Amino acid sequence: MTAMAPPAPPASTAPAARAVALPWPLPALLAWAAAWGLALGLLRLGMAPALALSAGLVLGGVAALAGRTRWRRLLIAGGFPVSLLASGWAPALPAAGWLLPLALLWLLYPQRAWRDAPLFPTPARALDGLARVLPLPDGARVLDAGCGLGAGLRALRGAYPAARLEGHEWSRPLALACRLRCRDARVRRTDLWAEDWSGFALVYLFQRPESMARAHAKAMRELAPGAWLASLEFAVPGVRPDARLDALDGKPVWLYRRPVGTAAVAAPAARPAAGVASMKASVSSSTGASQRSGRA
Ligand SMILES: C[S@@+](CC[C@H](N)C(=O)[O-])C[C@H]1O[C@@H](n2cnc3c(N)ncnc32)[C@H](O)[C@@H]1O
Repeated sequence: MTAMAPPAPPASTAPAARAVALPWPLPALLAWAAAWGLALGLLRLGMAPALALSAGLVLGGVAALAGRTRWRRLLIAGGFPVSLLASGWAPALPAAGWLLPLALLWLLYPQRAWRDAPLFPTPARALDGLARVLPLPDGARVLDAGCGLGAGLRALRGAYPAARLEGHEWSRPLALACRLRCRDARVRRTDLWAEDWSGFALVYLFQRPESMARAHAKAMRELAPGAWLASLEFAVPGVRPDARLDALDGKPVWLYRRPVGTAAVAAPAARPAAGVASMKASVSSSTGASQRSGRA
């Protein structure tokens, strides 16, 4: 289940980029067909054209998250509106009809959320066995920073049934949906970078490679000594992890511990390589709860 290894080179693509293995341009064709199917279906059901076409646009936008590159995402998202314009239907829409889908997309994915990672959920079994690698005391506070729809929180709940779970999410609709799905967690709509991590025994992230150095620096600055940063799939470049969990192929969980008895570390490069092979997880919860030992 677990293995100690130096971190793999960071992947160069966002989580969403790995989602679809269909040969190009099949994902785009499927997304366009689905957007048209949805819009026409809703029109047939009597929905107002602006709303039905907006739904098609939003569907195209969400499907675009699975594109491997920025250009593919643009093509997937753009196919429906471009073909709509070409179809001659667009003038029938009230001018403001075009603003609605844009507003919906903006609401779902405000710019700040895009800069880190779009929605891509933690796979259900990706954190299986985490508590064996990294045992936490009952009542330890655990954060999913950028919790999306709550898949990460659910996986964390599976690993730590007695933890106090919290989620931070920038997108208002996602935060709301997550709150409804994860009633056992305290979910707040906030910027993950603006929040203080000092009270957490474990901060879990599933963001993107480019965010990892910043996240690690923040963790080493703010976490209590002995507390942990966990990242699904993306390692912190240039920093040896203290432990690693391989519950799912291709989805390692990289674990970084704020060293005990050392001053805060300002930058990833300044952090000494930790004793990877000999990790004995003695996790002190910042809540001051009991300590336990675990195996690496
Ligand atoms: C790849 S998804 C992971 C969702 C969740 N952690 C999971 O594993 O199921 C990344 C999430 O982080 C959110 N996000 C990105 N930047 C953020 C920020 N600055 N503050 C709060 N949330 C952010 C996105 O909106 C998105 O929902």
